[in-house]
Order: sequence, then structure tokens, then C-alpha cells
Amino acid sequence: MTIPALELNDGHSIPQLGYGVFKVPADETERAVSQALEIGYRHIDTAAIYGNEEGVGAAIAASGIPRDELFITTKLWNDRHHGDEPNAAIAESLEKLGLENVDLYLVHWPTPAKDDYVHAFAKLIELRDAGLTRSIGVSNFLVPHLERVVAETGVTPAVNQIELHPAYQQRDVVDWATEHGIRIESWGPLGQGKYDLFGTPAIAEAAAAHDVTPAQAVLRWHLQKGFIVFPKSVRAERLRENLDVFGFELTDAEMAKIDALDPLDGSGRVGSHPDDVN
Ligand SMILES: NC(=O)c1ccc[n+]([C@@H]2O[C@H](COP(=O)([O-])OP(=O)(O)OC[C@H]3O[C@@H](n4cnc5c(N)ncnc54)[C@H](OP(=O)(O)O)[C@@H]3O)[C@@H](O)[C@H]2O)c1
Repeated sequence: MTIPALELNDGHSIPQLGYGVFKVPADETERAVSQALEIGYRHIDTAAIYGNEEGVGAAIAASGIPRDELFITTKLWNDRHHGDEPNAAIAESLEKLGLENVDLYLVHWPTPAKDDYVHAFAKLIELRDAGLTRSIGVSNFLVPHLERVVAETGVTPAVNQIELHPAYQQRDVVDWATEHGIRIESWGPLGQGKYDLFGTPAIAEAAAAHDVTPAQAVLRWHLQKGFIVFPKSVRAERLRENLDVFGFELTDAEMAKIDALDPLDGSGRVGSHPDDVN
């Protein structure tokens, strides 16, 4: 199976669907990532704070898959924005991953109360120029954070990884990012299982019409919106199901019904508000 690739604003490309390992326990990560690589995933999304970069690295090493066929993302944690800490942090992540560079390195949260995210992103530009990461981006950034980073560093992040699923679509961030050539990565694409996404009629009906599961219908909605996704599961059958989303297409009417599911009052958010994480 060929997973489509999207071009980033720096000329590199990214597989549109991958495997996220948030909350995969450290001692299960090697097995889980090995399983995902065997099933056909080539894009892995981890983070220093997940505590499982070693397991990701062990699975990569054991896989024998050529490095240039893999796309590996990791992230700079919130307490390491200042001074030269980003240099030390990426060195530690690369050591744990057993890699010479990652494909994408992200500022994990803006932590606006500390007012150091512009510095952190400026350090990522240096890390990219030093060849330690091919592309750089941000995560959980709202429009004012994106505006400042672009204005003050002159560099536009390749991606913004934000909470995004049918009940929480962050259209203001998506619109600004799209206008400025920033790809959106949807984290929690299935709402982290925290509400009854699958029982929602617009989703259940689209799934039934295409003889797929509700999870597949939701992932297909992300892909057709142009978002990058990396749903997490530790179960082989769900990993296969989540990858098997390229054999059908939602109609414009089905897309529009899912678009209409966000109540726009912020009530669909399942994670923290970026202003509250510091
Ligand atoms: N940048 C950030 O701040 C941030 C925050 C959160 C997440 N992320 C990234 O985004 C990735 C994905 O988000 P997420 O893991 O939070 O949430 P998610 O992918 O929306 O949901 C994962 C949950 O859905 C279940 N699930 C997976 N596939 C399913 C299917 N086909 N049918 C039914 N249930 C299914 C999983 O359970 P089982 O494992 O039991 O199958 C798990 O409980 C993360 O792994 C991480 O890489 C980034």
C-alpha cells in the first residue's frame, strides 16, 4: 500500500498518515512500533515527554528499514526552551532514537506565560541548519503564537500539530496556517476516545454508506481535509484498520455533515488549552 505524501513548505515531504505513540508505555513501545512498521506504517510521531523514544529507536534499528524510507518526528519539551537547552534536548532525543537526525522537530507547546517560544523556535532553525532535523515546526500554537514566530524569526514552521477532530476543528488556526503554507497535523484525530464520536449520526451514517468503521470514516475526513494524522493504538487489528483508509472517498455531502459537528464553543476540546500549559 502507498501512503500519500504531502509536500512541506521547505520542499521536504511527509507521509500523510502515521503512527503516534503518546501513552504507549515505554516497555511496550518497541513491540508496538515494530508491529506498526510490519503492518506498513513508515511515519512515527513521538516526543521527549512520552518517555518512549528508546523503544521507538529499538524498533527502528530492529526493522532493517532504510532510514530514508522512515519519517520520524520528536518534540522539544516545555522546560527546555531557554538558552542552549534545545541543543542538549535534541542531542538526547537523537541518542535515544539511535538516529543522526529526525525528519521533523517540534516546539511541543508555546507555554506563553514563559514567553520563550520565539527563542525556542529560533533555536530549532539553528538545529535544522546544523542537519539535526530536516524540517521544523510547532505544536499547540494559536494564531497569535504563529504570527509572532513568523514575524520575529522570518521562518514559517512547516507544520502546526494541534488537537483536531470533528468536534473540535480549530478553524481559525487552520485557516491562518493554510494561508501561510503551514501543514496541519491533527492530534487526537479520534478524539482520544473521550466522547462518543463513533455514535454521532454524521459519522455512523458515512461509515455505513461506505461499509467501513466509524474510525475509518473519521480518519478519511481528516485526509480529505488535507490534514496529517497519526492515530494511536496498541492493537494490531486497529493499526490495520487505521491504515486501510485509501480505498474509499467520502462525498462532499458527507464531509459537510462532519464539518458541521464542531459546536464552535470550544466544548469539543479533549486536551488542555495552550494558554494554560506553561
Ligand atoms: N502535540 C501534542 O500535544 C499531542 C497531544 C496528544 C497526542 N499527540 C499525538 O497524536 C497522536 C494521536 O493522538 P492520541 O493518541 O492522543 O489520540 P487518538 O489517536 O485520537 O485516540 C487514541 C485512542 O483511540 C483508540 N483507537 C485507536 N484506533 C481505534 C479504532 N480504529 N477504533 C476505535 N478506537 C481506536 C485507542 O485505543 P487502543 O490503543 O486501545 O486501541 C486510544 O484509546 C498521539 O499518539 C501523539 O503522537 C500529540
